[in-house]
Amino acid sequence: MSPSAGNPLNLAIIGAGLVSDYHHVPGILLDPRARVAAVCDTDEALLEKRKTDWGVEKVTTDPGEIFSDPGIDGVIIATPNFTHPALAIDAARNGKHIMCEKPLGLNATEVASMHEAAKTAGVVHMTAFTYRFAPSMRYLKHLVQNGDLGQPRHFRSQRFLDLPETSWGWRQYRDKGGAGDLFDMTIHRIDFAQDLLGPINRICGSVANFAPRTETADGSPCAPSEVDDWSAIIGDFESGATGVWEGTTLAKGYNRDGFGHEWAEINGSEASAVYRLHEPNILLLGRHGGDLEPIEVPAEFLKPEDSPRKPADGEPATVFRYDLAWEFVSAILEDRDAIPSFWDGWSAQVIADATLDSREQGRWIDIEQPAR
Ligand SMILES: NC(=O)c1ccc[n+]([C@@H]2O[C@H](COP(=O)([O-])OP(=O)(O)OC[C@H]3O[C@@H](n4cnc5c(N)ncnc54)[C@H](O)[C@@H]3O)[C@@H](O)[C@H]2O)c1
Repeated sequence: MSPSAGNPLNLAIIGAGLVSDYHHVPGILLDPRARVAAVCDTDEALLEKRKTDWGVEKVTTDPGEIFSDPGIDGVIIATPNFTHPALAIDAARNGKHIMCEKPLGLNATEVASMHEAAKTAGVVHMTAFTYRFAPSMRYLKHLVQNGDLGQPRHFRSQRFLDLPETSWGWRQYRDKGGAGDLFDMTIHRIDFAQDLLGPINRICGSVANFAPRTETADGSPCAPSEVDDWSAIIGDFESGATGVWEGTTLAKGYNRDGFGHEWAEINGSEASAVYRLHEPNILLLGRHGGDLEPIEVPAEFLKPEDSPRKPADGEPATVFRYDLAWEFVSAILEDRDAIPSFWDGWSAQVIADATLDSREQGRWIDIEQPAR
C-alpha cells in the first residue's frame, strides 16, 4: 500500500479536533512526501471549517468511506480514546497504515487486539507519543546510550499543569477516556522512561480526583468527573534503576504559557541530565560536586536528519511535535516499523492499567511485558 514513486502519500485525518490542528496537520503540511487527502469527523460544522483551515476537499462523517478508499495510504486517528480500537482495527483490516493517538485504548486488552490486527495486516503502526520527539529528549537518549551519564540509577518525572477546573468533556468519563491525568499525561512519561531505561518490571501507583468538574467553561451543568486529576507511580526497571513519576492538572501557578511544568531527569553514576518541555532545545547537565548547567542540544538532535523543518522557526515547545508525522511517513516509505509502535503503546498501557490496579488493591504489581 505504498504510493508510486514521486506521488505524495495520501493520508486521512480521523478526528479533526484540537490535536490534529495543533500538530498532526501542520506536520503533514511541512512534508513534501505526503498530503492531507481526506478528513473524517462526526461533527459536520467542524468538517466545513477544516476544509478552509487545512485546504482539504474530501471530508466525510463516515470512517468507512476512508477505509474503503483505495487511494488512501494511511490514517491518523485522533478521536476520543474509546473510539480508537474499533477505528484502528477497521483501518488495519483495510490495509491502511495507522498512527493512533494515545492512550491507544481504554485498557491493555483492547490495545492487544489493535496490535494484533495491525501486525496481521502488515501495516505500519505508530503510537503518537509526542515527547519522544523533543530535541532534549532525543539528546538525553543519546547520552544514556553512549554511557555519558554512567550507570543510570534514578529516573524522575514531574508533569504539572495548571488547568481550569471546568469540564473536560468526554475526557472526564471512564467509558470514554478510561482514566484522567494517568491516561492523558502520565502515560507519555511511562513511555519515554522505558524508551530511555528499558522495561519496568514492577510498580506501585496511586490516583486521586479533587476537581468535581460539574460545569462546562460556559457555565452549563454537566455530570461530575469520574477520573483522576493526579497520578503517581514508583517503579523498578529491569536494569535495577528506580523511577518516580508524578502528574497533576491542578498545580496552581504552573501555567507557564500553557506548557506547564515538565521535568524528567536521570541521575547516573557519572552525571545527571534533565529534559524540560518549555525549553526543549536545552538540556541541563551536572556532575559530582557541581550544579546543573544548561547546554545547547547539538544540531543533529533538533530534528530528524532529512526533515525540511527549520528548528529555529516557531515556538520550540510546539514545533518538534511536527516530527511525529515525519516519522510516520518515513516508516511507510522506508517499509520499516514506526517508532514508537503500537507495541510501545501497549507496554505503556499495561503499566497505566497496573497503576489503577495498584491503587485499588493497595499493593505493588509485577509487570508482565507484552509479547512483541
Ligand atoms: N499526543 C499528544 O500530545 C496529544 C495531545 C492532545 C490530545 N491527544 C489525544 O488525541 C485524541 C484527541 O484529542 P483532542 O484533544 O484532539 O480531542 P477533541 O475532542 O478536540 O477532538 C476529537 C475529535 O474527534 C471527533 N470524533 C469523535 N468521535 C468520532 C468518530 N467516531 N469518528 C470520527 N471523528 C470523531 C470529534 O467530533 C472531535 O472533533 C485523544 O485520544 C487524546 O488523548 C494527544
